[in-house]
Amino acid sequence: MSALHKFLSVGDFEREAKKRLPKAVFEYVRGGTEDEVALNGNRAVFEQLVFRARGLRDVSTRSQAVTVLGHTYASPFGFAPTGVNSIVCRDCDSKLAREAARSQLPYIVSGASNVAIETLSKLAPHCWYQGYFPGDRTRIGNIADRLDAAGVRTIVVTIDTCVGANRENNQRNDFTIPFQLTTKLIGSGLMHPRWLLEVFAKTMFTTGTPRFVNMYETMGPSITENTTDGFRAGRDRLSWEDLKWLRDRWPEKLLVKGVMHPKDAEIAASVGMDAVIVSNHGGRQLDSAIAPLQALPDVIRSVPKTLPVLIDGGFRRGTDVLKAIALGAKLVFIGRPQLYGAAVAGTEGIAKVVDILRSEIDRDLALLGCKDLSEVSLDLVSIRNAPLISTTQID
Ligand SMILES: Cc1cc2nc3c(=O)[nH]c(=O)nc-3n(C[C@H](O)[C@H](O)[C@H](O)COP(=O)(O)O)c2cc1C
Repeated sequence: MSALHKFLSVGDFEREAKKRLPKAVFEYVRGGTEDEVALNGNRAVFEQLVFRARGLRDVSTRSQAVTVLGHTYASPFGFAPTGVNSIVCRDCDSKLAREAARSQLPYIVSGASNVAIETLSKLAPHCWYQGYFPGDRTRIGNIADRLDAAGVRTIVVTIDTCVGANRENNQRNDFTIPFQLTTKLIGSGLMHPRWLLEVFAKTMFTTGTPRFVNMYETMGPSITENTTDGFRAGRDRLSWEDLKWLRDRWPEKLLVKGVMHPKDAEIAASVGMDAVIVSNHGGRQLDSAIAPLQALPDVIRSVPKTLPVLIDGGFRRGTDVLKAIALGAKLVFIGRPQLYGAAVAGTEGIAKVVDILRSEIDRDLALLGCKDLSEVSLDLVSIRNAPLISTTQID
């Protein structure tokens, strides 16, 4: 029996990852910004929606497959882009890519990832690339050319990171990018010998200090380097005009991630985006941002019915995924869960997280009385604290 048989939920992986990772690394993954109002809100909102299931509908044959942007995936969830994964698990990006391909899941490579997109796109041929683009069209064009040559067909532009976030927990733990080794970090590393050997030492001896290999058209700086222009330089100049320009230049799929306002969703549709991802960056950018699940209905109402609306933020259970599907989302992305899996048991841990979510979705579909995702409709959810009877009934 696999050593992972005791892990029954994504939460089990989070608790174990907390023990295995140095505090600074765990908190980098888990944390949000400032008072973590957005981070906590992302989870809390799921409890406001409850199901009213149907019964006796012969659910003996079930499928959770979904076709989005011309590709069929085996499940309605995938891996959101996460940067600097190599501090969580050695060669983490390659492990995520392999697992996404094996499990037929959508997978977005982060612009801040540490394994070359040319390698990742071979491991996961349908992977998407997420760009942290500067407001500099020459650079954007060069990156697009590199992606095209690497066989990437889908670009996702993140729009919620025009400036760096105020992640106080990272500062308190001495975790900075560019990364600097402090006595606090060394002390924390020494208290986690397995991480020190398996992640830190093996990474340094095999591939060396992790680099931002996919941020630019050429190999980017190492995560310890303080570049003259800073790796966030120019992002605060990026505008819809630049996206219009990219739309004309990039004939393949183009998406925006971080759409929270219905007006932005409307603009995204009008400038020809192929889909939008409702996201508040997992509560890691603007604190007190509305929870994506709460922003979802207004976004869906503002775009044409044919435009797929995707979502991420706080999804930890099959029921969470199905609530978003019931509200009209086409795909859900997860960010932290697969990193917790990777921290605990590398490839096997990532696969187990996928397996847990997939089996939860399968069971929940049956319990809802649905054979497939097309049957997961709005009438199956209700608001938890809705009035028990309406005032008109009392009159
Ligand atoms: C450790 C970490 C790194 C992240 N890096 C990126 C990134 O490079 N690009 C990006 O667009 N979003 C990034 N995100 C945000 C995720 O793509 C996603 O929006 C978020 O994690 C979803 O919330 P969840 O973690 O609650 O599932 C990161 C999130 C985490 C936890």
